[in-house]
Amino acid sequence: AHRLSRRDALRTGGGLLGVVGAMALTARTARAEPWNWSPADSVAGGGDGADPLTKYDPDADTVLADVIDHADVPEVNRLLATWIYNDQPLPAGLPKNLADFIESARQLPAWADQGKLASSFEFNKKRGLYLGVLYAFASGMMSTVIPHEALAVYYSRGGSHLKERIAKTAKFGYDIGTVNAYGDGGEMIVTCVKTRIIHASVRHLLPRSPYWPAGVTPISQDDLMVTWHSLATTIMRTLTAWQVPIPAAESDGYLHSWQLAGHLLGIRDEYIPATWEQANAQASQQLDPILAPTAEGKDLANQLLNLGADLDLTLLSRGILGAFTRFVMGDKVADWLAIPREPVWSPLLEVAWGPFVAVREGVLAVAPVVDAPYWMFDEFLRQFALWYVAELRMPLSIEIPLTNR
Ligand code: HEM
Repeated sequence: AHRLSRRDALRTGGGLLGVVGAMALTARTARAEPWNWSPADSVAGGGDGADPLTKYDPDADTVLADVIDHADVPEVNRLLATWIYNDQPLPAGLPKNLADFIESARQLPAWADQGKLASSFEFNKKRGLYLGVLYAFASGMMSTVIPHEALAVYYSRGGSHLKERIAKTAKFGYDIGTVNAYGDGGEMIVTCVKTRIIHASVRHLLPRSPYWPAGVTPISQDDLMVTWHSLATTIMRTLTAWQVPIPAAESDGYLHSWQLAGHLLGIRDEYIPATWEQANAQASQQLDPILAPTAEGKDLANQLLNLGADLDLTLLSRGILGAFTRFVMGDKVADWLAIPREPVWSPLLEVAWGPFVAVREGVLAVAPVVDAPYWMFDEFLRQFALWYVAELRMPLSIEIPLTNR
């Protein structure tokens, strides 16, 4: 195990936060139970079964280490900012190894299925109102109790620009649901490949941070799948728990859109689950047991609750967003993050959210208990959608970082 000693932390000015986080990090570079998820259950249908904790992304990592150390990164970022659409040729002037890498990384795999992607769009269109709030307060909040991710985000550049980072992640969730996400004129292939490039950059840069424990490489294939489950699997689990009716084709389509995202983010096909059943099985081995609080994650969660603070949207207050978090993530996670129960909204959500969804989805005709909260819940979702759209209007460009926090 690589340990950041207390003396090192003091010498580098790491302070208490750094020591606590680094200890959480070193606690899990090995697995309690041996990795036994079968690659036969993946989109590849087979593989060598190696533990993803020991795998990274060598093709991207080699190129980005070279680009960061030897190329003109601001110029590369300026060029990459002009590359937006899936079917758009790369701009001239990129370093050759980077251009070659992108040309191979932007190819869709043979198993990409346009019919499933059409169903995915249908799903996103129908459930879009829930998806924004779930990407932020189910997946986003969950990321703060995924120790490796919370630490990587906190000590990378994005940790000090959290609003911008949330907006970029929101854009990822938005792009994946657009009509032509992976087709001509869409942007998802570009967004994924750029994100893969950023992750490779983080693997190169973050180990140079004085707050990062020596010898630990961030963002393993395991970490990538953990985050994948915090997004796709967690959202499908939540909608299922809410009893939102989802036709099988749409549920498969949504899975497919995330399988492709995983592939384009550099996750090896042998780790990408083939079905929701396999995704759930993998998540119960990979995601559920590793959730834990860290000082860094608590700080990020606290910032996330301030998301609506400078807006004129009264239902996006800290109290209400906290109550929603507690309702979706459960008491254990909310307690870890020191998010209090909200006296009005917590009981309201517990009693009335289920019937609200049932009425909204046409499963129940009218439930008397829902009357007053129905309007408030609808308004909450509407205000969240307003925030989401406003964020997406900001010009966003995913850029190769040059520094840590
Ligand atoms: C950057 C998405 C997995 C840590 C980004 C960006 C996106 C993204 C869209 C660009 C945002 C920006 O430029 O600020 C995803 C998705 C993932 C995933 C969809 C998995 C399905 C992970 C994991 C970690 C991680 C597992 C760490 C363990 C980071 C860090 C950055 C980043 C440190 C650098 C940007 C910054 O915050 O400065 N990710 N990510 N990501 N991601 Fe990920």
